[in-house]
Amino acid sequence: MQNIAGTPVEGDDFFGREGAIHSFWDLLGNHDILLLGPRRIGKTSLSRRLMVEARQHGWSTIEANVASCTDERAFVEKLAQAIKSEAGSRVGAALEAVGGLLNRIDRVRLPGDAGFDLSAKPEAWEAIASDALALLTRQSNETLIYIDELPIFLFNLLRFDVKTGKERVRRFLDWFRNDARDATRGKGLHWLMSGSVGLDTLVQTHGMADAINTLRQRALDPFSDEEALAFLERLAESYKLPVSLDDRKRLVAAIGWPQPYYLQLAFQNIRAMWREGQPVGPLIDDAINCLIEPGEDNDFHHWEERLRIQHEQSVADLAIALLTVACRKPDGASTTALFAEAQRLLPDLGEEQQKQRFIALRDVLIRDGYWAISETDGTRRCHFRLEPLRRWWSRRNTL
Ligand SMILES: Nc1ncnc2c1ncn2[C@@H]1O[C@H](COP(=O)(O)OP(=O)(O)OP(=O)(O)O)[C@@H](O)[C@H]1O
Ligand SMILES: [Mg+2]
Repeated sequence: MQNIAGTPVEGDDFFGREGAIHSFWDLLGNHDILLLGPRRIGKTSLSRRLMVEARQHGWSTIEANVASCTDERAFVEKLAQAIKSEAGSRVGAALEAVGGLLNRIDRVRLPGDAGFDLSAKPEAWEAIASDALALLTRQSNETLIYIDELPIFLFNLLRFDVKTGKERVRRFLDWFRNDARDATRGKGLHWLMSGSVGLDTLVQTHGMADAINTLRQRALDPFSDEEALAFLERLAESYKLPVSLDDRKRLVAAIGWPQPYYLQLAFQNIRAMWREGQPVGPLIDDAINCLIEPGEDNDFHHWEERLRIQHEQSVADLAIALLTVACRKPDGASTTALFAEAQRLLPDLGEEQQKQRFIALRDVLIRDGYWAISETDGTRRCHFRLEPLRRWWSRRNTL
């Protein structure tokens, strides 16, 4: 097993997650899935593992990452290209048909485009996208369509077109629900959408929740402690490093929320520091400290960015302030102290509204992997799940 920290892992480098693979695969037979979760928790790796599973069952698979798409034309092109590369493994009519679709994409006109060229009859992007899907429904086998970073694409539509972006998001989601999913039901298409930012605030703010609520929303749990220990053991064996059970337990405890990425990162740091003949134990603290060093801490910035992408500014500001209160201690802050901070920052609201606002945000922070809640002696506390993230957040707020 290779120690890979950053790019999606496949084959022998993919560890565990048997439960998730089994339940997702089961679900995909009859439902479409929306897999949301923080960056780097293994969404793409798991989705690709599901694609392998699908191919083993005789399905075709299509993968398109739409993070860089800033408009619908780019989305359709990504989809058509993905179908083309899948069709490339076969030959003939399907490949020719998708070539025809790609030629039509240039004729799509979008709000903000320079004047229409009358000689080129304009095309609606929906027509091309639906024709692309029709190519897939004509196949005799089932197809898994995996669209990665869908929420980023939708947020791009809003960000790049302040005037009509909201309308375009609605139109896209309508097409997705009516034409891409409802109209193809029973014709062998199965959708797996994933993303690192939430869609709920976007669809709720714009009254479009109905467009996604028939997708089954799923998250990815961290490894259990046993899985994390077994994973580290496998890595240690592969690199012939003398990592004892005790060392592994300390490492897992120091990370707090054993998502494989952070285990891989810490292991990578240990490998960089270890010298032949040395024990590994004394290196663990430094390996964890390295994660949050300035310059090495890119992996934490996106936890803050994500709040700003998926929430309006006042909510993002409140979330950041509450996280700052909770970051001071590993066991976090009491909900009473956190609510007092929320009240301070929402002086214009009545107490009931302040309470509802606080509860809604607390639940989002729990769901999105920032916090866990604990209760001792009747005191409820919110604490960071990922201990290096807490320390990064704290360092950033310390002079
Ligand atoms: N099943 C796994 N076994 C081993 N390592 C894993 C596994 N899943 C994820 N990882 C680790 O997490 C890293 C990120 O995985 P992946 O790219 O799949 O996550 P992601 O959630 O898609 O990230 P992003 O939000 O950045 O797209 C990998 O490079 C690897 O270090
Ligand atoms: Mg990914």
